[in-house]
Amino acid sequence: MSQSTIEAHYRPNWNLSQALGFTGYNCGFTEKPGSATFAENQKALVWRLLGDVAIGHEHTVLDIGCGIGGPTGWLFERFEPKRIIGLEYCRSSVVAAEKRWAGMNERPWFLQGDAHSLPAEDGTVDVIFNLESALHYLNKPVFLSECRRVLRKGGRLCIGDITASNKLLFSPLTLLNSLPSQFNSNIRLWSADDYLIGFAKAGLRLVRHENVARQVADSLHDGMSEIRQRSWAENKGFRARIMYLVVLEKLFRGGRLGYDLFELVRE
Ligand SMILES: C[S@@+](CC[C@H](N)C(=O)[O-])C[C@H]1O[C@@H](n2cnc3c(N)ncnc32)[C@H](O)[C@@H]1O
Repeated sequence: MSQSTIEAHYRPNWNLSQALGFTGYNCGFTEKPGSATFAENQKALVWRLLGDVAIGHEHTVLDIGCGIGGPTGWLFERFEPKRIIGLEYCRSSVVAAEKRWAGMNERPWFLQGDAHSLPAEDGTVDVIFNLESALHYLNKPVFLSECRRVLRKGGRLCIGDITASNKLLFSPLTLLNSLPSQFNSNIRLWSADDYLIGFAKAGLRLVRHENVARQVADSLHDGMSEIRQRSWAENKGFRARIMYLVVLEKLFRGGRLGYDLFELVRE
């Protein structure tokens, strides 16, 4: 995937997050629709994916595909691990994440890089966090084997991703990749079963798995309600992105897409 494609795809997200004060780029999660802001839903998805995984002060954490750094920062503030690194492919997102923490001594670090080639020595990472990013990766087996390589024995990998509910959906969604880059997100969805097979092949043992598509659809609905309270002119920079999110919500509700959370252990 080229840098310009990913930049063009995430520019409307940036406009949206600037306008509404989001620091996450994910779809969010809610058990009680209408009870929280979309920004809070985005945080709730982070805690749901993390589950009971313990992050200690002595730990090294890697947040792969960290976007503009919201989730990396929330993990840092809550657990204060020894080291937390947000890895992100899109250069402008890395700059935005860095800006948030500029001048502070205690802070997460952000690196531009690729999930297919992790910038860490073998067996040096305690927890890998990967939220709604792997849908873009062209070679998920390479990504998973990289995760296994850098995790220490007993280390945890938390992956949350949009999944294809059936193989038929694969080709229509892949067609999106031929559209202009605002829509083209280089989607290469795996089904939940593809993931389970991929984990087994990579030597990662599954300890938790749930599909939260309904709660994610409800969160998107909350987000759309917030956006609709603004004027048409105010939403100028991200109207197409709003349509995209409306379609996503429908696909989750209709069971055409899944949203799967996985926790793995490296044995
Ligand atoms: C939907 S956003 C999620 C961001 C963040 N995890 C969050 O929850 O706010 C997906 C992110 O994955 C990044 N990404 C896509 N391909 C990547 C790759 N090969 N390596 C690292 N990051 C990648 C994108 O640039 C984007 O910022």
